[in-house]
Amino acid sequence: MPTSAKTQPENPPQLRSITSFVRREGRITPAQKKALAQLWPRYGISLGAEPMDLEAIFNRKAERILEIGFGNGDSLVEQARAAPEKDFLGIEVHRPGVGHLLLRLEAEGVDNIRVICDDAWKVLQHHLPEQSLQGVQIFFPDPWPKKRHHKRRLIQPPFVDLLWHKLKPDGWVHLATDWQNYAAQMMAVLSQHPGFGNLAGEGRFAQGPGERPSTKFERRGQQRGYQVWDLKLKKLLENSFCK
Ligand SMILES: C[S@@+](CC[C@H](N)C(=O)[O-])C[C@H]1O[C@@H](n2cnc3c(N)ncnc32)[C@H](O)[C@@H]1O
Repeated sequence: MPTSAKTQPENPPQLRSITSFVRREGRITPAQKKALAQLWPRYGISLGAEPMDLEAIFNRKAERILEIGFGNGDSLVEQARAAPEKDFLGIEVHRPGVGHLLLRLEAEGVDNIRVICDDAWKVLQHHLPEQSLQGVQIFFPDPWPKKRHHKRRLIQPPFVDLLWHKLKPDGWVHLATDWQNYAAQMMAVLSQHPGFGNLAGEGRFAQGPGERPSTKFERRGQQRGYQVWDLKLKKLLENSFCK
């Protein structure tokens, strides 16, 4: 549901049927499988019929950051270790990656990350409460390079609208990609949304990654000489765009 410049986003859009991922179970290790079975009750969130109660899940009041598509979770662990006063919620559909993360959480005693293994579209639409997050980060979402696959990309107007609904009034979004055409799409979609302001100034990418740790996918691209584009946005208060 694209929003016009004169109105604020209203109800979250309806679930779409095209998925932004392909499930690849192939390379799950026995240790990751075991972690999914044994550590899930401690770190995993199984979705129910009610919206999630994040305060109960993390057992405290804290700033909450959501990462969508964390891959193997290494950069998420790095962030959570550096900010023990914050809570981190990770959504990832790739079970080997989730297993990898669970193993690290237990081995390193990291307790401020909780994990959801499901489609972010579904989680945002049906399970996450409105205005429950301080920040959302999506680092190197699948670029879907072929034009006929662009509709599978995560960063689309209805998805961005969903993010807007889940953020607190002073919330932020941090996106990164190493695919130029996707960077341009991100910029276009976010610039057109009336509820977000670009922290670097209109039409500009952020100068470097800031405090974001590098990710596995990013390093692979850098070995091939790929450039990286970061885009940081803040949620605008309703009054600033309802003129
Ligand atoms: C290109 S990888 C990047 C992983 C990680 N952020 C990194 O930079 O190393 C994109 C990840 O997003 C996940 N993903 C894609 N669509 C998703 C969705 N709708 N819900 C949850 N995870 C998704 C994929 O499974 C994949 O692991």
